[in-house]
Amino acid sequence: MTAFSTLHYEFCIQNITCHRSEFRVGLTRVSGLLFGGDYNPEQWPERVWEEDVRLMAEAGVNMATVAVFSWSRLEPRPGEYDFGWLDRVLDLLHEHGVAADLATATATPPPWLVRDHPEVLPVDAAGTRLEFGSRQSYCPSSPVFRDAAVRLVRAMAARYGRHPALALWHIGNEYADHVLECFCAESARHFRTWLESRHGTVDGLNAAWGTSCWGQHYTAFDQVEPPRKAPGPVNPAQVLDWRRFCSDALLECFELERAVLREATPDVPVTTNFMSILHGLDYWKWAAAEDVVSDDAYPDPADPESHVAVALSYDLMRSLKRRPWILLEQAASAVSWREVNAPKPPGMMRLHSLQALAHGADGAMFFQWRQARYGPEKFHSALLPHGGTAARGWRDTLRLGADLRRLAEIAGTGTRADVALLLDWDSWWGLEAPESMPSDRLRLKDLLLSWYRPLHARGVAVDLVPAGRDLSGYRVVIVPNLYLCTPEQAGRLAAFDGHLVVGPFSGVVDAADQVHDGGAPGPLRELLGLTVDEFWPLPDGRVQRVRPVTGAVTGARADAAAVPARTWAEWLRVEDAEVLARYEGGDLDGQPAITRRGRATYLSCLLDDVTPVLSEVLAAAGVRPVADVPEGVEATRRGPYLFLLNHATTPARMDLAEPGTDLLTGRELRGRIEIPARDAVVLRTGAGPTEGER
Ligand code: GAL
Ligand code: ZN
Repeated sequence: MTAFSTLHYEFCIQNITCHRSEFRVGLTRVSGLLFGGDYNPEQWPERVWEEDVRLMAEAGVNMATVAVFSWSRLEPRPGEYDFGWLDRVLDLLHEHGVAADLATATATPPPWLVRDHPEVLPVDAAGTRLEFGSRQSYCPSSPVFRDAAVRLVRAMAARYGRHPALALWHIGNEYADHVLECFCAESARHFRTWLESRHGTVDGLNAAWGTSCWGQHYTAFDQVEPPRKAPGPVNPAQVLDWRRFCSDALLECFELERAVLREATPDVPVTTNFMSILHGLDYWKWAAAEDVVSDDAYPDPADPESHVAVALSYDLMRSLKRRPWILLEQAASAVSWREVNAPKPPGMMRLHSLQALAHGADGAMFFQWRQARYGPEKFHSALLPHGGTAARGWRDTLRLGADLRRLAEIAGTGTRADVALLLDWDSWWGLEAPESMPSDRLRLKDLLLSWYRPLHARGVAVDLVPAGRDLSGYRVVIVPNLYLCTPEQAGRLAAFDGHLVVGPFSGVVDAADQVHDGGAPGPLRELLGLTVDEFWPLPDGRVQRVRPVTGAVTGARADAAAVPARTWAEWLRVEDAEVLARYEGGDLDGQPAITRRGRATYLSCLLDDVTPVLSEVLAAAGVRPVADVPEGVEATRRGPYLFLLNHATTPARMDLAEPGTDLLTGRELRGRIEIPARDAVVLRTGAGPTEGER
């Protein structure tokens, strides 16, 4: 056994208050960073298991995610359990210093359950019942499924609650991956109950949904159905409530299991693996219900820009609980579910793992440990490839394991960001409602990325924040879009004493998707000093130029270049704000495009490049980058540790502002350094004690 594998891996912290309010991955008796992956021993004969654990120890694996899809093997017939094989797996793991992220095994109901109770199978929007034969084949609202799941979790907790390998409970798996919504009769019933508790009376629902439009006035809740396929556009308020309900219905499934585990094993933290920035689930709400955030990320190796979008999702993961999180799944090389599954070229698997750490993860884990020989994922890469220890991939596994040991001391450290980007699910759901918007080209992820990309490129640390949170402590808050904005949320933005940037089509509707009195920007009108007279979506290919007003923006000279805007513009009526830029040419010629009142800037359009506005705001707010980086290099900081990641395929040269020790090589670095292509430096600087998180 390696020295590493003799360490303690228990996550458990003595008392419940501790793990609920102060839990940090990497704290207390956890030594270092988590490394490992999904382990599916039930797909292999037992003689392979010995080799698995021996190789895990050799690679420095300290955690395995077990039993994710094992329900049919653990409970082959109703109430009849077969735990023997899992006992042996957990014992073996423990003997080899590998802790278990033990799944509750409820991600796929067993065949007997769906045959005895066909109503457990989910139904799609067209009314087709989805067959068994894949995974997640259950209706989130099914009481039969929920009861059976809870029974299994009770049995799991009773059997393994005291097992020394148990470090973390893994509830379900990637909720909403395959089934976010179910349109069966049971789900319809559940939706009605949910609506009744939200709206109280059927008249409350009529008022909120605006059913006077198109003759939809209901006189009883049982007349209400999920938004199935209808002759024309469905009531968008109904769709918005449906989105909220679907997120909540799955969260109830999670919470039912969590309640069992909290009671049985109050000292073992629970998680469920998120899917980066997922439209279907309100992760702010979900994260509040778990002890530690974990995420699965699969950036496409064929996309040279994929490290930017994934960095944004990692920043979200760090922000969800403002604590370290776990990258629970990523691919060692290719995945198996894209049309073309590109492998990771040499260095990328290591670099992408380091990137998660750079953004606050306390572990880099994988799907999966050993590459499968059958099933839909037999061509999905793994830490131990089909070719075994002779394969290129295995050398990468060993190298990463060794690197993670070198980086052990970063565990538990936090990140301080001066800039926050606002992301709110209610508003996202409203914005992307089908068939009734001025333009269906406004997509929230694009809007977020249009701001995140230049921030990332210049090495500025960014947190994500939900709408309605106290924003004090930040210097700059950017709201790429807040279509749905309540007066309370507007109040938080107005109370913020830093520099605020608000993007177009914000403050349009209230929580019920009804347009605010007087139109946009509704409750933001006073803060921004303007009214949006008319939305001016631009047809595909149409460009509307935007020219800074001389002198209005720092550096805006008489010859300042006009910046193209696409997709969206607005006709503004400025009441009490300075005009920073005006539209030039086209229908909006001469109209205000960008305005400022006090420290609140409003952009009424989608600029091709927000850099001029961003640079000016960052300078005014005194925001400094983590480091001055050349193109292709990503810089982040965790406490005293400076991460410099070269995503380019050529070496990068840069000057260090402060000297330090590169934890990956042990070398002292100062002044000018060179980072090889797809390589990284993790510098321990003298930046004093670890800065606490916000
Ligand atoms: C995830 C899932 C894993 C595995 C992986 C493959 O969505 O949680 O079980 O299927 O994808 O990329
Ligand atoms: Zn259903």
